[in-house]
Amino acid sequence: MTNNLFLVIIIGMIIENYKSSYLASLEVAERIAFHIRKTQLENKQCVLGLATGATPINVYQELVRMYKRENLSFENVHTFNLDEYCGLRKTHMESYYYFMFEHLFSYIDIPHKNIHIPDGMLHESDIHNYCLDYESQISELGGIDIQILGIGRNGHLGFNEPNCDINSITRKTKLAKSTRIDATPSFGKLSCVPKYALTMGMQTILNAKTIYFMAFGESKKHIVETAFKDEITIEVPASYLQTHPNCYICLDQYTNLIEQ
Ligand code: PGA
Repeated sequence: MTNNLFLVIIIGMIIENYKSSYLASLEVAERIAFHIRKTQLENKQCVLGLATGATPINVYQELVRMYKRENLSFENVHTFNLDEYCGLRKTHMESYYYFMFEHLFSYIDIPHKNIHIPDGMLHESDIHNYCLDYESQISELGGIDIQILGIGRNGHLGFNEPNCDINSITRKTKLAKSTRIDATPSFGKLSCVPKYALTMGMQTILNAKTIYFMAFGESKKHIVETAFKDEITIEVPASYLQTHPNCYICLDQYTNLIEQ
């Protein structure tokens, strides 16, 4: 892989510049698979934090390929998804529940009880306790081993939108207008895009032992530079990753942070 990769270490962050998003995705999938196999040899559980959106699709595709062709089992894997829209049923094609089964869970041997995706259909009065329970379930399994992340064009991680607290935990949150505008093509019109979501908090994300952050394509170039070349700021939640001791920033030829 070294031919495809240019490495830079900035404080705790490890910037990895790949020649393409596909090569970056293969490498991230390979490292996840390595960790799954390692925990199996040690008779331990493996806890993954998962993301939705276009960015991780090739990682999931590669994990499915390894399940089918390379005997990679997910029997000891527990997953916690970052977020879910409020008001969408699991059967809604834009729900993240639907996405995860469409791209990963339907094709692998993960026990259904090990899958955790925030429930977007809760009654308002149940949300607070549900979110605390989501946190407890992560803690009881010993925390997230590997968290994968994409980034919104406004710098959000999960649905931790600009001006969110670095100490936030899983909660209901209001979506930024820019996030709703970006989601509009999938929903048809802006008024159909949910206004609220449940999201893991920044603290939940930053507690993960290892983070693989991925940002691909020209449209992410500007926000990647702002998040990692500039100072940490509440206006760009992704910049909080600068505080993490073991965070890999996986970039492609468009988001590349080094002039070559
Ligand atoms: P994307 O979304 O992977 O579809 O670009 C990322 C995000 O908005 O967090």
